[in-house]
Amino acid sequence: MLFRKNKTLLGLNIGSGYIKMVELKDSGSVYTLNNFGMAALPADAIVDGTVMDTTAIVSAIVNLADNLKIKKRRICTSISGHSVIIKKITLPLMDESTVEETIQQEATQHIPYDINDVNLDFQILGPNQTNPENMDIVLVAVKKETINDYLLLVEEAGFVPVVVDVDTFALENTYEYNYEGEEKKVVALVEIGANLTCINILNDGVTCFSRNITSGSRLITEQLQKRFSLNYEEAELLKMGCPETQKTDGSTALSAINEAAFSLINEISKAIDFFHSSAMAEEQVGKIMLSGGGAKTHNITQAIQKSTGIECELLDPFRNIIIPEKHFDLEYIQDIAPMATVATGLALRKDEAVRK
Ligand SMILES: Nc1ncnc2c1ncn2[C@@H]1O[C@H](COP(=O)(O)OP(=O)(O)OP(=O)(O)O)[C@@H](O)[C@H]1O
Ligand SMILES: [Mg+2]
Repeated sequence: MLFRKNKTLLGLNIGSGYIKMVELKDSGSVYTLNNFGMAALPADAIVDGTVMDTTAIVSAIVNLADNLKIKKRRICTSISGHSVIIKKITLPLMDESTVEETIQQEATQHIPYDINDVNLDFQILGPNQTNPENMDIVLVAVKKETINDYLLLVEEAGFVPVVVDVDTFALENTYEYNYEGEEKKVVALVEIGANLTCINILNDGVTCFSRNITSGSRLITEQLQKRFSLNYEEAELLKMGCPETQKTDGSTALSAINEAAFSLINEISKAIDFFHSSAMAEEQVGKIMLSGGGAKTHNITQAIQKSTGIECELLDPFRNIIIPEKHFDLEYIQDIAPMATVATGLALRKDEAVRK
């Protein structure tokens, strides 16, 4: 008996700031949003992509699923940060089975971890543009220890982890689903999370450069804390646009937010400059698509556009997804949509499981 073929999975994005869940319904040619919600995590529950407080995360997942009345148990989740290495490498032309045999050996030169400690995966991109006797491959290595930590979390929360993905690829998946056919040749997907900023540059829809910046929107909060002598919660509120509750007037607050975002924006610009100066850049980035909670920072798309000289717009993860008006407050969903980008990409993964 075949069942569950092509059913959707629950997308569970365990971010260091917020847990996000997205559930989609596959209605044939189009997806409909069935459920979406998020819950904050304590600041030290996940540090640099490493699980530090299992109990807090498990209870946040369980509570969020209860609040959203989630029935689905089979999930797709993801990992990000220093446990994930994504590299574009070049090898002499060979067939896929030969790549499989040699990839372990090759990877030792590109992965800064013991090769026995990582799970390896690869995707053949095709012949190299400058030397057709070679081919380009995207190599992905994820630390086994981190995968196991996330699997345990999810199982302890009562879910069945069917797919463990990588944030960067989930982001790409969301972009492709929503912007297919409209893409410029080279597009930079930039996701600003609480503690991590992922940059994924696509050339004709395929990753050609990927880099993490190990800071995110929390850096802005911390700078506001220092500047106005606020506690963490007060500074978060100020960043989110509630200056009237704070020790500063509105326009001082806004210019402080812009200044605090400066170093992050500078890092993003430097990463894109680095890409442009490398051999990986066949063409300049035509557009930056911004997502993650940090994309909601006041004036940030304009500031990135000014700093890089490249058009920057918010990525809408629900652009091609139907949001039933009677179940959702559309204004609220659009407001928090930047935080749903990774979880949506995970929810778009198919449950290919075939049980006999
Ligand atoms: N309205 C807003 N204005 C400014 N910043 C916001 C707003 N809403 C959320 N944020 C910020 O977005 C960040 C959370 O974003 P997100 O959920 O994408 O991160 P995360 O996935 O939990 O973290 P990471 O991926 O780095 O582990 C927080 O730092 C939060 O302060
Ligand atoms: Mg995130």
